Amino acid sequence: MVDVKSLKVLITDPDKNDAAALKQELETDTKLVFSISIAGSLSEAKNFLHTDMYDIIISCLDLPDIKGFKTLIAFQKAASGVPFIALLKPDEHDLGAELLDMGAQDFIIKGTSELTLQQRSLFHAIERRASFQKLRALDDIKTKFTSMMTHELRTPLVSIKGFVSLLLHEAPGKINSEQREYLEIILKNTERQLRMITEMLDSARMEAGVFSIEKKQGGLVKLINRTVNEIRSMATEKHITLSIQTDEPEISVNMDDFRISQVILNLVNNSIKFAPENTKITLRARVLAFEEIKIPHAAEVQGLARGKYAVISIIDEGEGIENDDLSNVFARFSQVSKSKENREKGTGLGLSISKSIVEAHGGIIWAESGGKDKGTTFTFILPV
Ligand SMILES: Nc1ncnc2c1ncn2[C@@H]1O[C@H](COP(=O)(O)OP(=O)(O)O)[C@@H](O)[C@H]1O
Ligand SMILES: [Mg+2]
Repeated sequence: MVDVKSLKVLITDPDKNDAAALKQELETDTKLVFSISIAGSLSEAKNFLHTDMYDIIISCLDLPDIKGFKTLIAFQKAASGVPFIALLKPDEHDLGAELLDMGAQDFIIKGTSELTLQQRSLFHAIERRASFQKLRALDDIKTKFTSMMTHELRTPLVSIKGFVSLLLHEAPGKINSEQREYLEIILKNTERQLRMITEMLDSARMEAGVFSIEKKQGGLVKLINRTVNEIRSMATEKHITLSIQTDEPEISVNMDDFRISQVILNLVNNSIKFAPENTKITLRARVLAFEEIKIPHAAEVQGLARGKYAVISIIDEGEGIENDDLSNVFARFSQVSKSKENREKGTGLGLSISKSIVEAHGGIIWAESGGKDKGTTFTFILPV
């Protein structure tokens, strides 16, 4: 039970007698002290809400300046987060369920002098709001905690990576082949952990709304080449051929270089992870008019501007994705692979981060696959 000693209640009812009766009923409560204001219309109620904070709004749906469900919406706008209880006439009883669906906390029927019922409904409304606020506060703490923690976890890893690289470059002195082998294992695992922590940090930042994208005009073909070079050794290790296919000498895009490179890295990384040895991965870059792009039905295209887009596809010959999972893979933490192969597990965050980055650039991303073992193609488009 929430400890609420004094509740500020706003009753809105053009029928002065009804309002006064309800006020009186509430005031006879012995456990609670109510401070009750009465308004006769929505505009009068808004004046009260402007000048004071209320714990609860009780209003009938038949006001001189607004009627029906719109009344609830108007109060939700005027005092968001304040529990709304509809005061219904006996013949409006049927509206109750729908009102609850729309976000009303409860409804009470006029004239039923079941005082306890009304008090209970007030109590519930207050309790619900209190637990909602508590949840929101907890969620805030969780988000801040994740983003702070992951940041602190990242720093020592960057240092380890730097010093291991120095040893591998034999800066302090010669190393033998066994030492090299071990240091390379340390480096690979450090990089892997760094990738996972960076994904967690990015995802927490996105959730907290503090993830920034800084766009400027840049060359996409150059960026793809640079990014592929970064990851080529990983492909070579699995005897996978990585090739770039484009007829465009350059595609100028307004983008955040680092973030778009991160999207390409995520996608190619996945392809390498989910493809068997001795296969091919192709990165294809084209410029197409919106009407020429073959976007599957499942992809969300609403709000996309017409015009020209850079269309980047990453095509692999790996284990594929089943039809039902094609859009699920973009959800946070989703990992849908059913393969028995024993491979390194990721965080399941890469694709959701990539989706946010692409969307922040005014583009969309989707996956296509012929099904199990038929390979996967991820495509994202960016306005040019
Ligand atoms: N190229 C691909 N081929 C097959 N499955 C893929 C591919 N890319 C992604 N997936 C599926 O989508 C899931 C989510 O990918 P992602 O968000 O990058 O997370 P992670 O790589 O950490 O598992 C993967 O776990 C896998 O099941
Ligand atoms: Mg991944």
